[in-house]
Parts: sequence; C-alpha cells; structure tokens
Amino acid sequence: MTAPVRSGDPIIVNLPLGERGYDIAIGRGLLAQLGKRVAALRPGAAVAVVSDENVAARYLAQAEAALTAAGIRSSRVIVPAGEASKSWRVLESVCEQLLAAKIERGDLVLALGGGVVGDLGGFAAAIVRRGLSVVQVPTTLLAQVDSSVGGKTGINSVHGKNQIGAFYQPVLVIADTALLDTLPIREFRAGYAEVVKYGLISDAGFFAWLEANWRDVLSGGPAREHAIATSCRAKALTVARDERETGTERHLLNLGHTFGHAFEAAAGFSDRLLHGEAVAIGTALAFAFSARRGLLAPAEAERVERHLATVGLPTKPSDVAFDWPGADALMALMAQDKKVRRGKLTLILARGIGASFVAPDVDPAEVRAFLAEQIAER
Ligand code: NAD
Ligand code: GLY
Repeated sequence: MTAPVRSGDPIIVNLPLGERGYDIAIGRGLLAQLGKRVAALRPGAAVAVVSDENVAARYLAQAEAALTAAGIRSSRVIVPAGEASKSWRVLESVCEQLLAAKIERGDLVLALGGGVVGDLGGFAAAIVRRGLSVVQVPTTLLAQVDSSVGGKTGINSVHGKNQIGAFYQPVLVIADTALLDTLPIREFRAGYAEVVKYGLISDAGFFAWLEANWRDVLSGGPAREHAIATSCRAKALTVARDERETGTERHLLNLGHTFGHAFEAAAGFSDRLLHGEAVAIGTALAFAFSARRGLLAPAEAERVERHLATVGLPTKPSDVAFDWPGADALMALMAQDKKVRRGKLTLILARGIGASFVAPDVDPAEVRAFLAEQIAER
C-alpha cells in the first residue's frame, strides 16, 4: 500500500510528452514561488493572469506580489466565477484583453483558478496570436488532479459542454495545496470523486489508502499532497500514452462520467449537481452495473459506494433532491456523450477495484433497464 510522503519539498510529477512535456509541481505554499518558477522557465517574459472573481479576491494579490518580486511584469483578466464563463462571449473578452495588454508570442498566460478558468484561459492561450504559452495554477481539487493536467481546453456551446476547444498542453502546472483550505467543502468533495477515480481505474492500493486516509486528505498536510501527486501521476501516464484520446486509454479517465453525464445534464449543469458529484453517482452506478453483469462481486461495488458515501458524496440519484426525468430521457442524455458509436454505448466498467476497462459494445436496452431501476421507475 502506498505511504504518505513527508511534507517539505514540492513533489514534481513529469508529463513526458517530448517537446510538449512539462512538470506538475505540487506542494503547500507554492504560490509564493510563482515568480521564481516562471522566471526560471521564461526569463524576461511578461505574464497575463486570468482568474475569476472569487479566486482573484483571495489570491490575485499574492500571485502578483510573487511575480513582481521576481521582476516579472504582469497584467490581469478577471472573469465572473462559474460555468457560464466558458462561453463565446467571455472567451472573446479574454482574448481582446490579452491583446490589449500587449501580450506577445513569447509571453505567458497564467490561469489562476478552478477548471472553468483553466479551460477558458487555456483555450484563449491556444488561439491568441496562434498560441501563447500557458501556466496552469489550479485552485480547486478537481483542477489540481484533473483539469489542469493533460491539455484539454475549451468552452461550452448551445450544442453541449466542452464542444469548442483544443488540446493545448500547459508549459508548467503549479498546484499549491494550501489554496484548497478556502475551497467550500462541497467543492472539495466533488474534486475528491476524481481522486477516487484513479484508484478505481488501476490502483487498488491507492483506493485502500484513500479508505484509510481520506480525513487527512480533506484536512490538509502530507496526505493531501500524496493524494494529489498520485492522481497526477496516474493522469500523466494515461495522457502520455493517448494524448489526443485517439486510442482507448484516455477513455478510462471517464470512469463514472457516462452515467454521471446524464444526471449532470438533466440537472442543467448547475450547482444542483456539481460535476464531481455526478461522477460519484456515475462511478457507483458503473460498479453496480459491472456487478450486475457478473464482472465483479457485489461486495466490491458496495465497497466503492460505501467509501464515496462515507466521504459525503451522493451515490444514488435519490441522494439528490431533484425530480429526475425518466429512463428514456436519461438515455437520450447519455446518447449525447462523446462515447456513443453506431447506437452502442461505450462504458467504463470494472472487473474489480483497480481493474477498470473500456466496454465498447454495451446494449442500450440493458443500460435503460438498469437506469429505470435506479430511479425507481419500472
Ligand atoms: P470552478 O472552476 O467553477 O470552481 C468552483 C468554484 O470554486 C468557483 O466558484 C470558484 O470561483 C471557486 N474557487 C476556486 N478556487 C477556490 C479556492 N481556492 N477557494 C475558494 N473558492 C475557490 O469549478 P471546478 O470544479 O474547478 O471545474 C469545473 C470545470 O472543469 C468544468 O467546466 C469542467 O468541464 C472542467 N473540467 C475540465 C477538465 C479538463 O480536462 N480540461 C476535466 C474535468 C473538468
Ligand atoms: N478529464 C478527462 C481527460 O482529461 O481526458
């Protein structure tokens, strides 16, 4: 079983992508080293910090002070907090502000915020002047273990979430785990669902470690850093093998997401059900569905559900006070998922904890019957 690292030096996880490779630095208090790290990476470059109103109110002054102390000229672009900022309108405003700030080809965009800021700022960086380098400074647990790593950037369209975007790798990720101390507990738990995901995909030892140490991950300290670093290592390995999701490897990261997507979409991608909460429900359902297919013992699926529930995450549709639509409507929402091909569903299923796999040919009728049961509709 994995043991916690000691606190002190940052943990460096490398994403080996050749000339697009980069480091992910993880540790408490790294925001203070921002200027030093950026100056070492791009001597003489100016920086445009993209952030949201909540994060800017808490951390922008600290970030700017660290940049100034290293002699770095910086400007700022602040967007409203929330998913609605992943829009054409806000993207346009960010791009125009970057140009107005005279950010040049050799300068840097620094995305300081959660997944919304990372996706939006990363995409703006990908298209302004045909590509500015971007440093991701994730401030939510979800962003530290998932969205800041791997290069998926983008905005939403009326046709769906994340439908406009680019694969655009950052040049550096700096995850200051102390910033998570101010994250609302509900947001922290939602990000934790993505941490659990890595154990369930391929690392049973990490899942067992989380069962024993989750309280320490929530409260901070070395266990939190260890959990984030282990998650980033798992994501980095996967992205290195299948950067653009052309194979099946990167699909594994969507464990819990196909079922989860249906509920998240039904709830209108709103704070009635956060992304990570939908993933928690989707993960519990993916394991329950795997058990029903005889792929794993029901006790394994129950163990997964128990851990998610113990941490305070929803695991069943009925855990969320929402009037869910019927199974047909949920199936229609699932069909919008990018993993539907020629009428068959691709699901991430499991032969055990840490033994997930891509099942490309799942019969929708079987899934519909299962979902109908889950929402107690017969
Ligand atoms: P978010 O960016 O909306 O942040 C959640 C809330 O927490 C916001 O109100 C934000 O202002 C606030 N916040 C952020 N950091 C804080 C801090 N340290 N202290 C206090 N408040 C803080 O949400 P998120 O969950 O980080 O990201 C969700 C987005 O990430 C979605 O748009 C999703 O599509 C995207 N995502 C992208 C990828 C990817 O690979 N690119 C992966 C997963 C999710
Ligand atoms: N969050 C899934 C991925 O990065 O592929």
